[in-house]
Amino acid sequence: MKTLAILAALLLAGTTAPALAQTATTPDVQHEKLWLGSAWYPEQWPEERWEADLALMKAHGANVVRIGEFAWSRMQPAEGEYDMDWLVRAVRMAGRHGMKVVIGTPTDTPPAWMTQKYPDILRIEGDGTVIGHGGRRQFSISSPRYRELARDIVGRMVAAVGRDPNVIGWQIGNEYTNESYDDAARANWHRWLQAKYGTLDALNDAWTTAYWSQTYTAWDQVPFNEEVGNPGWMLDLKRFITDEWVAFQGNQLDVIRAGVGPDQFITTNLGGLGWANKFDRYDINRPLDFASWDNYVGSGHLLPDRNGATHDLVRGWKKRNFWVMEIQPGFVNWAGVSNMLYPGETRAMAWQAVGHGGDGILYWQWRSALNGQETMHGSLIGPDGQPLPIYEEVTRIGAEFARASAAIAGTQPVSPVAIVQDYDSRWAIDFQKHHRDYDQIEVLLDYYRPLKAALGAVDIVEAAGPLSGYRLVVAPNLNLITDELAQHLTDYVRGGGHLVLGPRSGLKDAFNRLHTTRQPGPLAELLGGQVEQFYALDETVAVEGGTAAMWAEDLSATQAEVLLRYGKANGWLDGHPAAITRGVGRGRITYVGALIDDALMATLMDGALTQAGVERDFAVPPDVELMTREGQGRRVVILINHGREERRVPLPAAMTDILNGGITRTLTLPPEGVAVLQRNP
Ligand code: GAL
Repeated sequence: MKTLAILAALLLAGTTAPALAQTATTPDVQHEKLWLGSAWYPEQWPEERWEADLALMKAHGANVVRIGEFAWSRMQPAEGEYDMDWLVRAVRMAGRHGMKVVIGTPTDTPPAWMTQKYPDILRIEGDGTVIGHGGRRQFSISSPRYRELARDIVGRMVAAVGRDPNVIGWQIGNEYTNESYDDAARANWHRWLQAKYGTLDALNDAWTTAYWSQTYTAWDQVPFNEEVGNPGWMLDLKRFITDEWVAFQGNQLDVIRAGVGPDQFITTNLGGLGWANKFDRYDINRPLDFASWDNYVGSGHLLPDRNGATHDLVRGWKKRNFWVMEIQPGFVNWAGVSNMLYPGETRAMAWQAVGHGGDGILYWQWRSALNGQETMHGSLIGPDGQPLPIYEEVTRIGAEFARASAAIAGTQPVSPVAIVQDYDSRWAIDFQKHHRDYDQIEVLLDYYRPLKAALGAVDIVEAAGPLSGYRLVVAPNLNLITDELAQHLTDYVRGGGHLVLGPRSGLKDAFNRLHTTRQPGPLAELLGGQVEQFYALDETVAVEGGTAAMWAEDLSATQAEVLLRYGKANGWLDGHPAAITRGVGRGRITYVGALIDDALMATLMDGALTQAGVERDFAVPPDVELMTREGQGRRVVILINHGREERRVPLPAAMTDILNGGITRTLTLPPEGVAVLQRNP
């Protein structure tokens, strides 16, 4: 095929790739071993029961427990009244059972006395609805009073257990979700705009408010709600909401940092939807020690590619290993069908997390409260306090983690390839989708799948972060390219890197305004080509070697070479370039203008890997996922059979079988089977 011929020819021209980034420092406490545990709510149970719970945790191999994150009313039963003694006793008792503790701050659930006395702390939705007591998340992240109250309780928790040797870290709040549209938030918004723009003229210009008479003559005229509006306004609102969350978090973070031991970590668990984009998760994670998320499947079964990519996204928030602060113990209570995972699937999920850089796995939850909204959720022990069927599988995980921990500790996934994920672009495209089915995560996964199939690890990173360690960088959805970002990407390419841009790249500037150059805007010159017109497709069109659907851009090339052409398409596109590429010194920039089918994408990515000089990892049969971690002079391989058929996996060389002992060259993996191997030096 012509694509391959061009790629092969380009390969002959030779490339020198940048060196890979490696770290060999001593891991912090959160990465020094594999951590296993669950969320435990001692405040919901008589104290006489605690010993039995902790003994059962120890018996399944737990070495960590998370407590405290919803227990505000227990810690502060009334204004001015505090009870921290139970927390201290729970921490110490956990310690006696050989368990380290992560303390969650309870700011997701303010007590009823508080919301009654201070109704100004309640969260208000964009349509004005006030959220009252009875659920959770009924607080305003912007309320100065709420921040003060949060600071107070967190300070007291820190004073109580911040120096306890059993406490290894802190989780701030729980699953940041809803911003508030109360008066304090509104005032912050207008102040934020003023700080950003200085003058209303600058704001009016950035948002092109001459359109539809939107011109503002006073700051407080600028709307503050959740409606669909001017895309420049909507983008700034997202950035403001991000900054509000960062400030809300920072308020607690300062108190914790100032009062706890130097070895204790601070994180937060960002919800089960890793790809959610209510705010910028890179910014949230910047001041934290590492990222955590909650890995739930919900209905159905694990989607290995998507789930694995989500772990990679989370790892990319900090560019370091992460924790799964909550994982599903078989089933949840909130899905359309809250079905049980297959036998072995819970174990496979745990190992997949580890394979993608997870160092801590905690089940949610240990035991269901006897009442409350989540009595139907899966747990490790039942209402009778005895192990449920899933406990046995988790016990196996515990034994395996103990066996594998020494080999895995201090290692991390290391990849020569990164996929760029960018919240500004996510928002910009979602605000103006142009094709209702355009799903940026699916577009990203289209690139991810063939890359992951070729490699034991793929990074997913932010656009503005360091890229020079990667041989190949793929940006599937980089709609918003500022001049600064264009410079960063240009430096990468000029430094010998290979950059692949997907459709819709470089349409918008820093204010979500159309660039006055054609796509990819400030990168068009480097590319030596541009987008003549984009088309949302209502039918599949032919592309040399395959098809495109949903989106196709008509490209032109002045300096670039044509990599792919449309065949018979929509008339406008017929025979025109669909993908173009240009060598720039030792580097290269490629623009793919269409959403192409899987087979063509596999060919394209194969060519890009070859072109960039990336060495593939060994091939595995269908359904089997290969994951690699390295560091401390060790190279670990994790293999999981996510399918329903047994699979034979020949290894390229003899490896040490960490879980079963011995040296192996070929493995047989049953459905949900897991192998953890160490490559011999
Ligand atoms: C999480 C949340 C937990 C629990 C769990 C149920 O999103 O953090 O508190 O509600 O879902 O699946």
